Amino acid sequence: SMDKPNTVTCTAPVNIAVIKYWGKRNEELILPINSSLSVTLHQDQLKTTTTVATSRSFQEDRIWLNGKEEDITHPRLQSCLREIRRLARKRRNDGDPALDSMGFSHKVHICSINDFPTAAGLASSAAGFACLVYTLSRVFDVEGELSGIARQGSGSACRSMYGGFVQWIMGQKDDGKDSLAQQVAPETHWPELRVLVLVVSFAERKPVGSTSGMQTSVQTSRLLKHRAESVVPGRMVKMIEAVQRKDFTAFAELTMKDSNQFHATCLDTYPPIFYLSSVSQQVINLVHRYNRHYGETRVAYTFDAGPNAVIYMLQQHVPEFVQAVQHFFPPESNGGQFVKGLPVNHVALS
Ligand code: PMV
Repeated sequence: SMDKPNTVTCTAPVNIAVIKYWGKRNEELILPINSSLSVTLHQDQLKTTTTVATSRSFQEDRIWLNGKEEDITHPRLQSCLREIRRLARKRRNDGDPALDSMGFSHKVHICSINDFPTAAGLASSAAGFACLVYTLSRVFDVEGELSGIARQGSGSACRSMYGGFVQWIMGQKDDGKDSLAQQVAPETHWPELRVLVLVVSFAERKPVGSTSGMQTSVQTSRLLKHRAESVVPGRMVKMIEAVQRKDFTAFAELTMKDSNQFHATCLDTYPPIFYLSSVSQQVINLVHRYNRHYGETRVAYTFDAGPNAVIYMLQQHVPEFVQAVQHFFPPESNGGQFVKGLPVNHVALS
């Protein structure tokens, strides 16, 4: 019967930027001041699972995040729902009669679950909005370029619409039609690449969220302007080359320098934003000492809007680096902070 809900469930993984997105030129459409590039993790860990149900009997759109009902009127959520419904309506108007019974006007119930801490700087919004947009597209049977819609949920979400190595091209247009994600290389391209997440803090909330942080940075940091105009364009070219050549040294050095410059722009923001903790700084020092010890760049760190470290490395160096981490951060150290064992999640990329 028409009252039986139509439900679809999908998952989307987190992506971790190696060239960071920080700063918008258009707040409403979420258009960035620079292009960015990330690696989408494998589906095994650090993912969002979303179920969307539609039914003629639903009175209103509703959403639950990790089991708790949230405000559906959130503007970015509304943007995604509106854009998907617009595409669905367009498809019907373009004359596919089979779609007449699809019920685009039906209300949706959305249920979304993260298998990692929300808002701890682990790109939860990226997986969340990518998953929402993709699942809605399946429910309403919409196809085509969807990264521009995911972008309007959360900028970084557009990159989680693809696997592997993904760039978000900033675009030039005022309407944002050319601000889209594009796959640079598939996940199978560099199977030896590994990601470790060093959980420095389990705190659920960031002190300064990415939206307000970016606003203050755009308004006050000249370093950010310099970065967007004069640094990132060259780094994007070099990073794409490094990925294509599978040149780990070049990939790793660009990744660390770009993370450092992002956090420098946070410090250059007024009032300043501190995402790195003293433990994050110890992880940075450890990585540089480790690389110096071997006389080659074997390990790279990167940090988003939070203190947790994401480490890129090649498979053959994982056991030894994990040992070094466990040696310098023994589980019993740090008066309880670390007792949770500094979980070293070994996330395979393919
Ligand atoms: O998409 P947002 O608003 O969560 O911003 C993400 C910003 C960083 O994670 C710090 C950088 C990035 O490119 O993912």
